[in-house]
Amino acid sequence: ALKITVIGGGSSYTPEIIEGLIERHHQLPVAELYLVDIEAGREKLNIVGALAQRMIEQAGLDIDIHLTLDREEAIKEADFIITQFRVGLLDARIQDEKIPLQYNCLGQETTGAGGMAKALRTIPVILDICADIERLAPEAWLINFTNPSGIITETVLKHTDVQCIGLCNVPVVMHNTCAEMLEVERKEIELDLIGLNHLVWGRDVIYKGQSQLDKILSRLLSGEQISVSNISDFPWEEDLLKSLELLPCPYHKYYYQTSKILEEEIEAAENEGTRGEVVKKLEKELFKLYQDPNLREKPAMLDERGGHFYSEAACDLINAIYNDLGTTHYLNVPNNGVIDSLPDDAVIERTCLVNQSGPHPFNSEKLEPKIRGLIQVVKDYEILTIQAGVNGYYDAAYQALLLHPLVDSNSVKPLLDDILAANSEYLPQF
Ligand code: NAD
Ligand code: G6P
Ligand code: MN
Repeated sequence: ALKITVIGGGSSYTPEIIEGLIERHHQLPVAELYLVDIEAGREKLNIVGALAQRMIEQAGLDIDIHLTLDREEAIKEADFIITQFRVGLLDARIQDEKIPLQYNCLGQETTGAGGMAKALRTIPVILDICADIERLAPEAWLINFTNPSGIITETVLKHTDVQCIGLCNVPVVMHNTCAEMLEVERKEIELDLIGLNHLVWGRDVIYKGQSQLDKILSRLLSGEQISVSNISDFPWEEDLLKSLELLPCPYHKYYYQTSKILEEEIEAAENEGTRGEVVKKLEKELFKLYQDPNLREKPAMLDERGGHFYSEAACDLINAIYNDLGTTHYLNVPNNGVIDSLPDDAVIERTCLVNQSGPHPFNSEKLEPKIRGLIQVVKDYEILTIQAGVNGYYDAAYQALLLHPLVDSNSVKPLLDDILAANSEYLPQF
């Protein structure tokens, strides 16, 4: 029987994980589920934990749910540990979005300047968690969602002995939307996906051995979308898609249609608020719903969050490892030669086969020049960000921002200084 631990258990996303575990209980015999949080999240943990209890009860399952602030107890001898915490909570996210905007740069919590800020806050915490895992559950698999997911996963793999796999819901959304467009079952298609987290392309969509990429691209050209709620879904520029001949992910809007999305962000910030501010309101509503003692299932409103389907990725992955399934998944794993222009220890997002021994990324053709450079430069920003996050190196942070295509090079120093000052309580390494 399994012990599963969720760090950041007070997250409003937790009912999705619970639903995923309930749906798979025939294959995944979970005996103990630990939801762990910190003092600042105690109230959220109690509310979401009570809902989790009711959901499990309703399903007639015998899972012991523990709500705790004791991380060591939660980690001890766990089989799978899922990390979904947010250091500094939504107020820190809102800063990540607003500070770059002051310098006319995109404010996004997972890439560019905002992504770096979130990484710098998160790295000391994840290293601390991993020290606990090394001591108390050295055999456990760490399944990381905490953003920036690729950077955090690479930090763990480079600097600790913990076996870690990084996840994101974006590939799942891409997969599921393609299946809908083709009107086939999800399990009948497979995407050839390659790139970095939030910078991933679909090279092909395969159904019964046949490429369906052209069909999908023409659907996108006719205005249909592969979208997540946190990113504006204006249609792709026609020439862009036609010449790309690959399936972009929603985050490519930032790189390919930069000024358009920046304009929208500035306008949104002045009106309904940044995404973090919108999520703050949504979260309030969600927690109101969660407190209804008659609620015994995941409410539909949760699907309005950008991370929709994240638990499908997590529960399917756990299932594949635990039951040695040999199924394909889209994962953040060490490159190990898959992309020849990147170091072996750089984490990439790639279609992988998963069995009991873990993830095995598919080999790849050489990268096309049209995507190779962008991957390289963003990976170098990530490598430098990790150096800065682990060691408190100011110069590495500076050079990382200087490299990033979404950061205005003239603003690097004041922008970085603002970020470091605004986050100082979370940056013991600096
Ligand atoms: P949230 O603000 O609700 O935070 C989740 C919980 O983390 C809170 O209850 C908070 O108290 C707790 N927390 C904060 N610091 C902690 C610490 N040091 N130890 C343990 N718990 C701590 O955030 P959310 O919107 O639920 O998102 C959680 C995380 O998951 C974020 O990092 C987000 O970016 C990420 N996320 C990733 C994906 C993906 O595709 N990879 C999808 C959804 C969410
Ligand atoms: C998804 C990303 C996640 C991110 C989430 C934000 O697109 O894959 O990594 O955390 O959106 O959603 P939110 O509802 O918090 O804006
Ligand atoms: Mn993601």
